[in-house]
Amino acid sequence: MFWNKVYIVGVGPGSPKYLTREAEEAIREASVIVGWELDLLPARHLIDGKKIYLQNVKNYIQVAETAAKEARKSNETVAVLRIGDPCISSGLDGLLKVFPDFEVRIVSGISSIQLAAAAAQINIDESVLISFHDGGDDFEKKRRFMLDGLNQNRHLIILTGPDLGPKEAAIYLTNNGISEITPAIVCENLALSDEKILRGTLQDMAAKQFSWRSVMVVI
Ligand SMILES: C[S@@+](CC[C@H](N)C(=O)[O-])C[C@H]1O[C@@H](n2cnc3c(N)ncnc32)[C@H](O)[C@@H]1O
Repeated sequence: MFWNKVYIVGVGPGSPKYLTREAEEAIREASVIVGWELDLLPARHLIDGKKIYLQNVKNYIQVAETAAKEARKSNETVAVLRIGDPCISSGLDGLLKVFPDFEVRIVSGISSIQLAAAAAQINIDESVLISFHDGGDDFEKKRRFMLDGLNQNRHLIILTGPDLGPKEAAIYLTNNGISEITPAIVCENLALSDEKILRGTLQDMAAKQFSWRSVMVVI
């Protein structure tokens, strides 16, 4: 028997236009909100007057634990907001460990990978998805996985991040035998007012700097 509920809610890639009705309802029902600043932006109009627990790179586990503790005391429902879809590169395993005694519902969101696949006009099921967000020991394995994916005739959909941006991905791929004229697309700040989509080749992407908030598709 669970006493408390936690909703782990995907809020879409950044614009409220991509917030689903299901996500809105879950957020309205919760009185405790947890998220990074960017996670809260698409739902800002829904969270006024609620208890907000703001996460950042130094404190994200501790802040979620504090919110869980408070919710247990007051028997409140928590909504953890996550940009895009919460089952894609959003620290889901860690979150589930923070709320072991809560009834958990994951509310799917529209992911940046869906918007990038649409911009590139490719099938997601013919692609390999790689996220460079959690860093750590997997970095070298993930870089090799990009080569394996292309060599297996798959597209790559890469969530770039501080560890590896589009420029570095393009340089790595071309230095490791992938043709410089391989088509690639970089989608920056999708669904936001400063959205930019650059279409070209790996050679073009290797010569430019991009925002960390980019999805790169290699076709
Ligand atoms: C921590 S991951 C979260 C992914 C998210 N759960 C999703 O489904 O899109 C953050 C990465 O997602 C990608 N991303 C998220 N929102 C984006 C947007 N609006 N435009 C471009 N890339 C985005 C970028 O690669 C960014 O570095």
